[in-house]
Amino acid sequence: MRTIYLDYNATTPLDEGVREAMLQAEEAWGNPSSVHHLGQAARALLDDARDRAAVVLGCKPSELIFTSGGTESSNLAILGAARMRRDAGRHLITCGVEHHAVLHPCEYLAQNEGFDLTVLPVSNIGRVAVEAVAEAIRPDTVLVSIQAANNEVGTVQPVAEIGAFCAERGVLFHSDAVQWAGKLHMPSVDCFRADLVSLCAHKLHGPKGAGLLYCKSPLQLPPLLMGGAHENERRAGTENLPGIIGLVSALEKFVALPPFGGVEMEENICLLKTCINNIEGCTNISPSDSGDSLPNTASFIVEGSDSMALLSGFDLSGVCASSGSACSSGSITPSHVVEAMGFPSSLANALVRFSLGRETSRAEVEQVCEILPAVVSRCRL
Ligand SMILES: Cc1ncc(COP(=O)(O)O)c(C=O)c1O
Repeated sequence: MRTIYLDYNATTPLDEGVREAMLQAEEAWGNPSSVHHLGQAARALLDDARDRAAVVLGCKPSELIFTSGGTESSNLAILGAARMRRDAGRHLITCGVEHHAVLHPCEYLAQNEGFDLTVLPVSNIGRVAVEAVAEAIRPDTVLVSIQAANNEVGTVQPVAEIGAFCAERGVLFHSDAVQWAGKLHMPSVDCFRADLVSLCAHKLHGPKGAGLLYCKSPLQLPPLLMGGAHENERRAGTENLPGIIGLVSALEKFVALPPFGGVEMEENICLLKTCINNIEGCTNISPSDSGDSLPNTASFIVEGSDSMALLSGFDLSGVCASSGSACSSGSITPSHVVEAMGFPSSLANALVRFSLGRETSRAEVEQVCEILPAVVSRCRL
């Protein structure tokens, strides 16, 4: 049985060129903080990597903090910004379709550190209105966090408008752009008009466990990880140099020329959405207008079924798909994203996400369309 991988929003295979660059970086195995020449060779590589990332992102090298990935970047942004500004106010704003890497630190601050949290509603395609953000901002609001693009259904948010509004009101703005990079045009990191932007490597053919937080100067966040003075005293711990080189190589290769998108992917997504909507009881819930959505994502809900049965059914046919939410102890919890979009939890528990990528062929998509009706009908309860 041939494997058809349609789970690129979960992770992507490592690019060959990126792998080569990482292997070369491993030769500079000294500790960048060591005084001797081996350490200094690693330090030079690290400094060079930061400069190169800054060129790709159109920012200053000092505005980049290398992290272990998207989760850490968003945790650092939210916990750091809120704690830094706590004397100015204790109100935070986010929206219901954020990744848990954003929602959970916001909830933690509300439950444990005296912050008040507003979770904004979204439309039936998962979009938050700029006006809703504007109305929710109060004199004591210190941080707004809205993602650039959604991982479960692919909805793109009006982040530049939200960021511009927050800047006018003197409120810090963070955006989780993990799903955006490599999929949509990013002329510079400032295209989000954000003070803080989370990125990671493994969604664009880079390694797992590597990411960065863009932190607009002169913001100086308090660290989450304490110890040494690494990353300009913003993140302690010996730097993961091969991971950082992998991240930077992936950014260089894929930010300006996104591997996701193009006419072929557009046609493949269109075909998948049509096949989905032709099956009774199946509804595509990714935005139908391509301007509102990631170019590679088609998510759908199936009446009278559940994600676990459906994903297992697809897997038995060789198709790797996802439900958006993580699986724990053999069960999948209803998608908070689908619930926030206004669907009942029975349907939020019956989500399937197909996310296409660079290696996805037309023949694979046609094969999935062929098996789709049978898999769905087998998995109805
Ligand atoms: C939107 C979004 N934010 C954050 C993350 C977490 O990133 P990482 O796996 O690098 O910690 C993911 C990964 O699924 C994501 O899709």
